[in-house]
Amino acid sequence: MAHVLGIDIGGTGIKAAPVDTATGELTAERQKLPTPHPATPDTVVDVVAQLVQAFDWTGPAGVTFPGVVVDGVIHTAANLDHAWIGVDAAKTFEAATKLAVTMLNDADAAGVAEMRFGAGSGVGGTVLLLTLGTGIGSALFVDGVLVPNTEFGHIEIRGKDAERRASELAREEHDLSWGAWAGRVDEYLSHVEALLSPGLIIVGGGISRKADKFLPLLTGLRAKVVPAALHNDAGIVGAAMAADAVGAGHATVRL
Ligand code: BGC
Repeated sequence: MAHVLGIDIGGTGIKAAPVDTATGELTAERQKLPTPHPATPDTVVDVVAQLVQAFDWTGPAGVTFPGVVVDGVIHTAANLDHAWIGVDAAKTFEAATKLAVTMLNDADAAGVAEMRFGAGSGVGGTVLLLTLGTGIGSALFVDGVLVPNTEFGHIEIRGKDAERRASELAREEHDLSWGAWAGRVDEYLSHVEALLSPGLIIVGGGISRKADKFLPLLTGLRAKVVPAALHNDAGIVGAAMAADAVGAGHATVRL
């Protein structure tokens, strides 16, 4: 049984908890601190270090980032400060926390957790997880193998970045009714479905707790659409799974 600290950096909050990677369960209550503004490398590293300290953690850690992450290096940061771009985040967090750190995209982390322990467990074929939060994140699986760093939240719909229209933040900012927002989500999912034809779409992020308010309003999709089972903990669990896999000598999580 491996215990790994999972840390999920989002546009709104930074959450952490130790995870038993054999079961996907959090072994202590999750702690959450607000994402600092501006969310530069210095300010975010401070918050992550506080969370590591709060758990008195000395073991391995997995950390998610809401942008493209390749070999620990950040390539995009749509909802955090652009000073992150080009930064080796894994090395930066390792230097600040003295822990062995594995980094991956936040939606990819949520995806691997849902595929092993949640709504995608045992499902083959093309499965797409979309997190609707501050932005829209995506994780694409083909027969359980992740295609990392897909960025389907940034396809263009009606001349706009899709996440500006259909994220949970867009619902709040434009004060949309569930019906109006569900219409936007429906249009977005139809576009994505036309590109990828997934058999299953898993809707994640905090909004998955309110799935009954909008999933029944979606129409005309061929794919089965289900809420995430691990809700907002999926990123923490997936971050820990990634660190565990890398610790065991694999390049990435194997489902
Ligand atoms: C980022 C993605 C991220 C998603 C959810 C998007 O703006 O480009 O990398 O997964 O937000 O946080």
